[in-house]
Amino acid sequence: MEIEVIKFDNLGRGIGYINNKIIFIPKTIPGDLVEIQITQEKKNYYEGRLVKIIKPSILRKKAICPYFNECGGCDFLNISLSESMDYKLDMINELLTKNNIDYKVQNIIKNKENYNYRNKITLKIINGAIGFYQNESHQLIEINYCYLAKDEINNILKDLHILNIKNGTLTIRCNYKNELLLDIKTEDKIDNIDDLVSKYKIIGIVLNDKCIYGDDYFIEKLDNFLFKVSYNAFFQVNPYICTEIFNLIKENTKHSEKVLDLYCGVGTLSIVASTNAKKLMGVEIVENAIKDANFNKKLNNQNNLEFICADTKNILNKMTSNYDTIILDPPRSGVPSKVLNKIKDENINKIIYISCNPHTLVRDLDLLKDSYKINDFIILDMFTHTHHLESFCILTKK
Ligand SMILES: C[S@@+](CC[C@H](N)C(=O)[O-])C[C@H]1O[C@@H](n2cnc3c(N)ncnc32)[C@H](O)[C@@H]1O
Repeated sequence: MEIEVIKFDNLGRGIGYINNKIIFIPKTIPGDLVEIQITQEKKNYYEGRLVKIIKPSILRKKAICPYFNECGGCDFLNISLSESMDYKLDMINELLTKNNIDYKVQNIIKNKENYNYRNKITLKIINGAIGFYQNESHQLIEINYCYLAKDEINNILKDLHILNIKNGTLTIRCNYKNELLLDIKTEDKIDNIDDLVSKYKIIGIVLNDKCIYGDDYFIEKLDNFLFKVSYNAFFQVNPYICTEIFNLIKENTKHSEKVLDLYCGVGTLSIVASTNAKKLMGVEIVENAIKDANFNKKLNNQNNLEFICADTKNILNKMTSNYDTIILDPPRSGVPSKVLNKIKDENINKIIYISCNPHTLVRDLDLLKDSYKINDFIILDMFTHTHHLESFCILTKK
């Protein structure tokens, strides 16, 4: 069936129509004339698979990666970087307009490296094949190189089969010294660890949450700060963009005295903000991350901050107007309304909201808009060549 692709949806897929019913086709771009196969029919829409490009869009460029058409790892290797920036700006501005939020985002901070920027990838292993899932399916695409991952991750990727894992997942992280930390989840017996360790700069291997070689953490250095990061603690995947976030945090906490950092992870933003603030408290749900945060506080000689391990929903009594600034850097699900309403009740002057999910961010901004105005909204191209984006938003009390 032939389809003309009209525009992108907000997951970076091409959109067309079959008899006025919408169809989403991954890896197609506006202006393409394509042959497709319907993979799913729902009440209000279809999902499709690109079979052949009949006439390419003028925006289309040849993807550098041989796995691109099938692999679900990224979605924008087939358009220019400037097109993908325009997409990100248009997408966020459309979401804001739909929610009657009166702000137009214009600033986007670009990545420094267009390829090989990610310090972490998670691979699936099925029947001994190692790779990523295909777009919107659980079909594995075997790969031996990923253009988004750092070189050292790609080097070891080619040799991972020697571990003889049949089924499971394998996360590889890489730090500033190009040391590698492997986190493996499998029920299989693992072979040849010594061979892998002798060939690569591996600082730790964790198997099913148990450290079986070296350490279960690594040390990352960013912008003169050092951070211990446990294998199961969150850390931003793009070190350069993370330092840009640090700069924005420094700039926007210059006049902050008491700061509350909800969702603080291993204390990265807390430690950066504490170089300005008199007092800071960080809250995080993952116990190992809080242990790291306490370690990191000492590692960076910052004594004006404390960390607590809790679910943000359960510490509403700590969200008091004693704080003049709140940093919110939640997971993709965003901030629960209970937490946002409490912040509103306490009249906290400034909110710094950092988000990797524009949909939940805009939902939360909608809830805050009667009490807070947006002073600044910047997009950071944290996930270059994908439809994902990071937002940095400054809100102040109306
Ligand atoms: C996007 S990360 C941000 C971490 C940190 N700000 C950074 O830049 O490294 C979100 C963090 O929120 C934590 N988290 C998730 N749900 C939470 C909750 N309900 N209460 C507290 N922390 C939570 C996650 O474990 C994760 O560390």
